[in-house]
Amino acid sequence: DWNPDNVIAEQVERIRAQVGSARVISALSGGVDSAVSTALVHEAVGDQLTAVFVDHGLLRKGEREQVQQDYVAATGVRLVTVDAADTFLAALAGVTDPEEKRKIIGREFIRAFEQAELDLIAEAEASGEKVKFLVQGTLYPDVVESGGGTGTANIKSHHNVGGLPEDLQFELVEPLRTLFKDEVRAIGRELGLPEAIVGRQPFPGPGLGIRIVGEVTADRLEVLREADAIARAELTAAGLDDQIWQCPVVLLADVRSVGVQGDGRTYGHPIVLRPVSSEDAMTADWTRLPYDVLAKISNRITNEVREVNRVVLDVTSKPPGTIEWE
Ligand code: XMP
Repeated sequence: DWNPDNVIAEQVERIRAQVGSARVISALSGGVDSAVSTALVHEAVGDQLTAVFVDHGLLRKGEREQVQQDYVAATGVRLVTVDAADTFLAALAGVTDPEEKRKIIGREFIRAFEQAELDLIAEAEASGEKVKFLVQGTLYPDVVESGGGTGTANIKSHHNVGGLPEDLQFELVEPLRTLFKDEVRAIGRELGLPEAIVGRQPFPGPGLGIRIVGEVTADRLEVLREADAIARAELTAAGLDDQIWQCPVVLLADVRSVGVQGDGRTYGHPIVLRPVSSEDAMTADWTRLPYDVLAKISNRITNEVREVNRVVLDVTSKPPGTIEWE
């Protein structure tokens, strides 16, 4: 019988055997896989582990706090936060092409994470220790997809393409390699991780950066963050999370339309709701949300987010539409 306690006990043993007394680094993204793999390694080797959280400024409302406060409180993990929002925004200035945005965000992420790694290596050396391992939240489907190799996650790949000097490269610790997503969630719950993290729906690595159609700016991020928080809160309150695979909320920053509020004419931006139902994100259908929930979300967003005067619903399946707009 599959049982989270057994898996935890078994992995803790394995991790201890692999790591010995060396130091370990892990990257937390706010997502399920990195949260659970990090918590397992912490369970096994305690403060030999340091987790690094790169705040790229493209997270949703509350996600930084979920990691910095709730996750740390639940696990006791030693966490280093890299405040990189300004760097990312500067690198994204003037960029509107989606693939260009992805490239820039990926590159800046690696730079920020690598600097944190170098700092931790220096710190360990100062106390006569060595950082030898990097935690990776590779799941079984990732292993299969990559033909049995060592995972597909993006942090890992840069160690192969010559990020760090060769003698500083790490061995991987991958405690989720035999597991499926629902099993990972069960283990996370067993380890007492915050539900907001364990139950989180898929969210792309480039974050809100690819949910602003147009240039990414601090002001636009703030508008989208507020609208997204409202939509998420109302979907959860209506008990719809189980029916929805994910619901991108998109700001059409380069589109304006006329509206009216009180006695005045407005000229604001539309927000798109993109709720989809899916098994694996390869295909998807738009989720038939109840009209009264849509009405509530629309009313709240247009009342509470000044720059938004229109909320529209995306009723396209995948294919031909993708789930994200960029
Ligand atoms: P699309 O838009 O291609 O999305 O239908 C399929 C799934 O992949 C996610 N997605 C990404 N995840 N980096 C990620 O980590 C990305 O650049 C990226 N683009 C799309 C998307 O949220 C959906 O779950």
